[in-house]
Amino acid sequence: MSQHTVNSTPEYPVSTDWWRDAVIYQVYPRSFADADGDGMGDLKGIRSRLPYLSDLGIDAVWLSPFYKSPQADAGYDVADYRTVDPMFGDLADAEHLIRDAHDLGLRIIIDVVPNHVSDQHAWFQQALGAGPGSPLRKRFHFQPGRGPNGERPPNDWESIFGGSAWSRVTEPDGSPGEWYLHLFAPEQPDLNWDHPAVDDEFRSTLRFWLDRGIDGFRVDVAHGLVKAQGLPDIGSRDQLKLLGNDTMPFFDQDGVHEIYRGWRTVLDEYGSERIFVAEAWTPTVERTALYVRPDELHQAFNFHYLSAYWDSDELKDVIDSSLQAMRPVGAPTTWVLSNHDVTRHTTRFANPAGLGTQIGAAGDARIGLRRARAAVLLMLALPGSAYLFQGEELGLPDVVSLPDEARQDPSFHRADGQDGLRDGCRVPLPWAVDGPSCGFGPAGSWLPQPADWGSLSVEAQQERADSTLELYRMALALRRQHPALGAGDRIEWLDAPQGVLAFRRSAGDGQELVCTANTTGEPVRIGRHGRIKLASTADAVQIGSNHAWLPSDSTIWWV
Ligand code: GLC
Repeated sequence: MSQHTVNSTPEYPVSTDWWRDAVIYQVYPRSFADADGDGMGDLKGIRSRLPYLSDLGIDAVWLSPFYKSPQADAGYDVADYRTVDPMFGDLADAEHLIRDAHDLGLRIIIDVVPNHVSDQHAWFQQALGAGPGSPLRKRFHFQPGRGPNGERPPNDWESIFGGSAWSRVTEPDGSPGEWYLHLFAPEQPDLNWDHPAVDDEFRSTLRFWLDRGIDGFRVDVAHGLVKAQGLPDIGSRDQLKLLGNDTMPFFDQDGVHEIYRGWRTVLDEYGSERIFVAEAWTPTVERTALYVRPDELHQAFNFHYLSAYWDSDELKDVIDSSLQAMRPVGAPTTWVLSNHDVTRHTTRFANPAGLGTQIGAAGDARIGLRRARAAVLLMLALPGSAYLFQGEELGLPDVVSLPDEARQDPSFHRADGQDGLRDGCRVPLPWAVDGPSCGFGPAGSWLPQPADWGSLSVEAQQERADSTLELYRMALALRRQHPALGAGDRIEWLDAPQGVLAFRRSAGDGQELVCTANTTGEPVRIGRHGRIKLASTADAVQIGSNHAWLPSDSTIWWV
């Protein structure tokens, strides 16, 4: 790195909290690695691939749910929070996985799903059997219906997966009875967080896993636990369009924060190294910041960043507003480009702007990959923590050609085939060029892999200097060598032509890094910023004594 120092660049102390600048890799257990050959990934499979994750250069792994579940929503419908689903292994496998990860210096974050349980959870089964008015129903939102015979749902809320957010039960005596709330699938009844038993149960579950050495929890639907008093109607508006943009009576209610303040005291009993990360879709970055106040959760995914397109103005706005919103609460920003709920960013950026995060079209794959490689170098030059979604290091696109009969996303069936697009990012990983499931396991895979999947595999990309996998490895190695890169909460913007982002970061020890991202489809001339340390493209970069030509859709780290 350059020894040249510019006095206007402040030096930030390198943080001692590991999570403030950590790069955390999401493993989606069904689709990562299958050890037993049933076509479904499992904990032994993940364990066998830990050395790969360690070599990649990440700090921690977040595992999506592997608990006992009927799998109505790929494990986000939990029937027992303290049992491993036999499909994934058993508790001993989980313990071995945690131990092996720790031996390699990797931390393990697991999912906790507090907004709802599976309809097969003992509590819900007891509530159904106990009948109307029973205290056992008070742990959920059971209500009589509207209309003369209670035949209409108690309010107009719609499920995120389509249709009404209420389902009617048949009472033990066989009569049509009360309705229960489910913001997601009918197999996922919402818990009533006003009931003290609910919080007690979750605190005890947190301890169960903390006692097994877990380093943190990703809190599923963290913004959903508290519902507005009286469960008021929303009115005749397009509810799906309001999600994430507007205040909803079931999302981002102020009452959720008290729950997290309580949870934080539980976590802190286990020292200062364990963390919570919130999945909280909120209307503004300022609302997101409330979840990471000093006595609440540690991180919250920056979905405003994830939702931004590959566009310099949009990106600059969201970077600035996010850093600014987090500053007063003293939390880092948690950048993320992809996860198991959205179209992979390779495919989002292959399509035109304005389509959102759920896209069923392949677009221009070459441009998409080029932009995705540029986007990750931009993200990893920003201060704060960053999450990666399994397979993005291979540049995987979304699989948009899945046959309908293969799709398992519950929203596909609930929304008359209009949705269900989340399966496309969940197709099992290709590890090898050949083999029945490209090295995913000894047999097939639960979602069909495309014919050319093997050409994107780890085997095909490793040690190939221009591969996306090696780009990730190099970028992550540089972040490790220069921890100051992820530290602090400020960046120094530099003048740049339209369509280009340019900023300077301290790289520690008086060294600096300039990151330039050209979001346009044309080469752009800029002033020269030193020499190239890492580039997202193998294209030759023309460099003069005072200027450089940035290739189209590319990011360069200069030192
Ligand atoms: C979260 C999960 C998603 C799941 C939903 C319901 O948004 O990330 O996959 O469907 O919660 O649990």
